[in-house]
Amino acid sequence: MNHLLVTGGAGFIGSNFVHHVLGTTDVRVTVLDKLTYAGNRASLDGADKQRLRFIQGDICDATLVDELVASVDAVVHYAAESHNDNSLHDPSPFIQTNIGGTYTLLEAVRRHNVRFHHVSTDEVYGDLELDDPDRFTPTTAYNPSSPYSASKAGSDHLVRAWVRSFGVQATVSNCSNNYGPYQHVEKFIPRQITNVIDGVRPRLYGAGLNVRDWIHAEDHSSAVLAVLTHGEIGRTYLIGADGEMNNKSVVEMILELTGQPADAYDHVTDRPGHDLRYAIDSSSMAEIGWAPRYTSFRGGLAQTIAWYQEHEDWWRPQKQVTEANYARTGQ
Ligand code: NAD
Ligand code: DAU
Repeated sequence: MNHLLVTGGAGFIGSNFVHHVLGTTDVRVTVLDKLTYAGNRASLDGADKQRLRFIQGDICDATLVDELVASVDAVVHYAAESHNDNSLHDPSPFIQTNIGGTYTLLEAVRRHNVRFHHVSTDEVYGDLELDDPDRFTPTTAYNPSSPYSASKAGSDHLVRAWVRSFGVQATVSNCSNNYGPYQHVEKFIPRQITNVIDGVRPRLYGAGLNVRDWIHAEDHSSAVLAVLTHGEIGRTYLIGADGEMNNKSVVEMILELTGQPADAYDHVTDRPGHDLRYAIDSSSMAEIGWAPRYTSFRGGLAQTIAWYQEHEDWWRPQKQVTEANYARTGQ
């Protein structure tokens, strides 16, 4: 593989992947990104300009997508509307981008016989009880809760149908919650870190007992590259790093690492339909020789806090409008 098309490469996980690929391989990368409120061209600053081309455009634009897909060896598809809370207020762009955009890409890779990797989420499986001994596996039944997760579930089904019906050369990965640099301040961890920087108390939805299975974005990037190079066509891989923790414990760790009192947070209105727990069985990734490098969540979190402290120019322009949106729902 010499040339990748990365959709959503100016978003959180997409930009981490582009830096990872340019930093660890000789591959050239073309990024296709609409630059919605969640995309930021500055997230690609510092990348090797000789091997990176940036195209601002929509994955629903069939003519543009066809032209770009025809020029590459493989597509890695990250572009999406990604925030559950937003999907509860206006599901429409989630349906258009996550389902319509994935369809547009699949038709293009089908026409040009180009390898496709679809980046998806563990949320397609719904949630688990806190004491459930089982974790999500590639055979867990789909049971999405929010418009966001339902739209991602729909896109996963399209990919599988295009593999089976048309012989498209595709793989799918479903990953757990990512943290790390370049994550939008609407998301849980960067929201609380930047609140603390601003002297505002962190906000916990409900009792704060919901569990997420945290993985560093750098580990997600190495996992996607491993699936792209060693994955079996038609298979689904579950990516996780054994990082289960409830939200209250995450907030307490942020407070401790920033020198604040352990109880300096507030409980706010819960998310409607809030998934209780996600947990990943990542043995499908062990089969292809992948393992996470960030084995200490505390260490990765400390590094992430330092990144937000040092990159205020990156997140500051988004902070006020994000908090104004949350204020409307009492969150
Ligand atoms: P993000 O919101 O930070 O980035 C999404 C990017 O897609 C942005 O740059 C945005 O401009 C772009 N985009 C949106 N609509 C587009 C369109 N129509 N055409 C072109 N570009 C468009 O999201 P993220 O957290 O980086 O997530 C990336 C992918 O990874 C998503 O598919 C998401 O479902 C998946 N995922 C995320 C997580 C997580 O914890 N954040 C975990 C598992 C899977
Ligand atoms: O599991 C993978 C998914 O993880 C991805 O598919 C999504 O794109 C990504 O956004 C993430 O979804 P979550 O809904 O789990 O992430 P979020 O950061 O929005 O919230 C994490 C947890 O923190 C969740 O239980 C809700 C809670 N929360 C969130 C915010 C923004 C709070 O308690 N307070 C907050 O202010």
